[in-house]
Amino acid sequence: MLGYARFDIINSTGMPSGRANRTYALGRMTHILHRQIGPSYPVAASAQGVFIRDAAGKDYIDASGGAAVSCLGHGHPAVLAAMHAQLDTLAYAHTSFFTSAAAEALADDLVTHAPDGIGHVFFVSGGSEAIEAALKLARQYFVEIGQKQRRYLIARRQSYHGITLGALAVGGRPFQREKFAPLLIETHHVSPVYDYRERRIDETSQAYGERLAEELEAKIAALGGDNVMAFVAETVVGATLGAAPAAPGYFRRVREICDRHGILLILDEVMCGMGRTGTLHACEQEGVSPDLMAIAKGLGGGYAPIGALLIREKIFEAVAAGSGAFQHSHTFMGHPLACAAALAVQQVIRRDKLLANVQAQGAHLARRLNERFGNHPFVGDVRGRGLFQAVELVADRGTREPFDPARKLNARVKREAMARGLMVYPMGGTADGTRGDHVLLAPPFIVDAAVVDAIVERLGEAVDAATL
Ligand SMILES: Cc1ncc(COP(=O)(O)O)c(C=O)c1O
Repeated sequence: MLGYARFDIINSTGMPSGRANRTYALGRMTHILHRQIGPSYPVAASAQGVFIRDAAGKDYIDASGGAAVSCLGHGHPAVLAAMHAQLDTLAYAHTSFFTSAAAEALADDLVTHAPDGIGHVFFVSGGSEAIEAALKLARQYFVEIGQKQRRYLIARRQSYHGITLGALAVGGRPFQREKFAPLLIETHHVSPVYDYRERRIDETSQAYGERLAEELEAKIAALGGDNVMAFVAETVVGATLGAAPAAPGYFRRVREICDRHGILLILDEVMCGMGRTGTLHACEQEGVSPDLMAIAKGLGGGYAPIGALLIREKIFEAVAAGSGAFQHSHTFMGHPLACAAALAVQQVIRRDKLLANVQAQGAHLARRLNERFGNHPFVGDVRGRGLFQAVELVADRGTREPFDPARKLNARVKREAMARGLMVYPMGGTADGTRGDHVLLAPPFIVDAAVVDAIVERLGEAVDAATL
């Protein structure tokens, strides 16, 4: 693929290992345990703006921002300058000894622009770490306030909250959980908001949202309202459902139910947050404010690994007045270089009014996707918010029957897109966790109409080729 030869692997004694499909990149053996053992990955050699160039000189439009990460595109001069300046001043200081100006400034910035009630920030290095911190802080909060019996978590099916054990436990993807099931903490799952497949035809969107809120309420009743710790949900579901927004009024009802039972609302905006949907936080469009909120990908835009947990003041106050410390830390939390990068990313987004561009180009992208795929025989739905859009692929538009998973259609679309110099983020299991395919788009906030047009054109060709 893409000019990279495939060879049989040679082991250290010089003998063929007998395992086919192991590859060398550019003629060299890889010692990395890659995500997939078998396929060869092109080598990313350089990147600028919306393009990544591989070592063979081929350019790819980064229409997915990797996995909804690269919100400013690549090589942004203001971010690089801030990172260089930080490196020249202070690269690292352990947070058990020092705080840093970079971390303090980023926390100030995040709290200033946070949803109502958020007063503090806990820094981590990615999305899974942010979710782990959320789960542990939720538990510690209830211990601090004398409600030690609260231990149940409720989350939703077809969700992804990260890969570490706590995050995996709340996630709702059966095939990812299966192998590790004996290691996972007890979590209860309710239905996601999935308008395309699960709203009844005789039901308004509002009534659908209300029905799902009632399902949550029934689950809480079954577990005992005093035993539940938190409800965890992505505000707009990303990787697993493909840019699926909530029904109108759903999160308001969820907020009200959580409040009535003293349950914490944890929103996962690792993928959909930090401007991706056209507002800084996706929950702004739902009219709710969470108790804890995980952010990551677009926070640092890929310039450095960073995530954060935004914390409602009552939770911070309970810990401050109780044990006085959140019993949770990482060696690299609040890394000054990562904080400086993230602060620069956020400042550029505001300085260049990029949320307005997300809204304008998001609308253009939705329009172009609908034009290209609105009558496509194998596209059942086009959905999303801002520059977070997806198409759901179906074998039959009328019945909404998914493709046979054995076809691995999502992997095919990815291959066909890469062959055409396009990075998109396809995924399987959309319909029920096993069947179904969608393609997620999350291009950088700096795209213009011409880039959007090129994305849709190449995606159209890739989908056509994959569904032949
Ligand atoms: C919604 C959501 N939460 C959590 C995570 C985990 O983030 P990370 O891969 O940085 O650990 C992801 C990653 O895709 C995500 O999409």
